[in-house]
Amino acid sequence: MRTGPLLEVSALTKTFGSIRGPRALDDVYLSVPEGSAFGLVGESGSGKSTLIRCLVRLEKPDSGSVLFDGVDVHALRGQRLRQFRREVQLVAQDPYASLNPRMTVEQIVSEGLLVHGLAGNRADRREKVSQILTDVGLDPETMTRLPASFSGGQRQRIAIARALVVGPRLLICDEPVSALDVSVQAQVINLLAAMHADTGLTIFFVAHDLAIVQQLCETVAVLRSGVVVEDGPTRQVFGNPRHEYTRELLDAVPIPDPVLARQSRSLPSGLLTLP
Ligand SMILES: Nc1ncnc2c1ncn2[C@@H]1O[C@H](COP(=O)(O)OP(=O)(O)OP(=O)(O)O)[C@@H](O)[C@H]1O
Ligand SMILES: [Mg+2]
Repeated sequence: MRTGPLLEVSALTKTFGSIRGPRALDDVYLSVPEGSAFGLVGESGSGKSTLIRCLVRLEKPDSGSVLFDGVDVHALRGQRLRQFRREVQLVAQDPYASLNPRMTVEQIVSEGLLVHGLAGNRADRREKVSQILTDVGLDPETMTRLPASFSGGQRQRIAIARALVVGPRLLICDEPVSALDVSVQAQVINLLAAMHADTGLTIFFVAHDLAIVQQLCETVAVLRSGVVVEDGPTRQVFGNPRHEYTRELLDAVPIPDPVLARQSRSLPSGLLTLP
């Protein structure tokens, strides 16, 4: 039995263009325990998406390592790589771009089942799709429809269903609600929070919005110009920031005190409190 973190990033460095140019990621260390919800915050251009791309092998780091379940993801081949591609799922920022407009919801959600040999026959697949759509709060009857007939929030639920149907151990979300109306952001965040609480799914959550991270994530890292300036328990980092940059982020978007927030009826960012 391994006891280390599910995801461990060490000394990760990534440059674009000249190797001596500015670093998109500069000596990044992160550790994400299994079963936790981990938040990564930082302003636009700080390197959040680049880090995610290095985690899921869409970019190759210049140096450093990404260990998933103790194994270097950039060294994976064959069967272990296929397993990694099932166990680590990504939910992208824009559900208008990430769903194939010519595929039905059933096809979109069952694709991963087929790719990973989890499919069984058509009836089994349909049953699994039906169940996961119900889990994310969509009517299974809608599975014959195309993405165009869904709202942004519903599309993001479809993207979450597609990610969850293959049974991932890590769900990586790159600003999953920033393209949505404020009124539906809270519904999608509450869905992720409920999945995390009910199933112990490990979540790596990237956001601009500190209030969302405060609501969802036990641990947070603050990224600035490719450097992690501060990390730790969210309550501690947001409640008593040690770094000037964290303070600036907090000042720019005041986040509600969790106790006051629970008592308040109209929260900033349309956030709902969790049950
Ligand atoms: N393919 C690329 N080629 C060149 N530079 C890139 C590339 N991808 C990212 N960068 C640069 O790396 C830096 C980090 O970009 P990244 O997209 O990771 O930031 P981010 O924190 O995700 O920003 P946002 O909040 O706007 O999504 C930026 O300076 C960006 O211009
Ligand atoms: Mg980004």
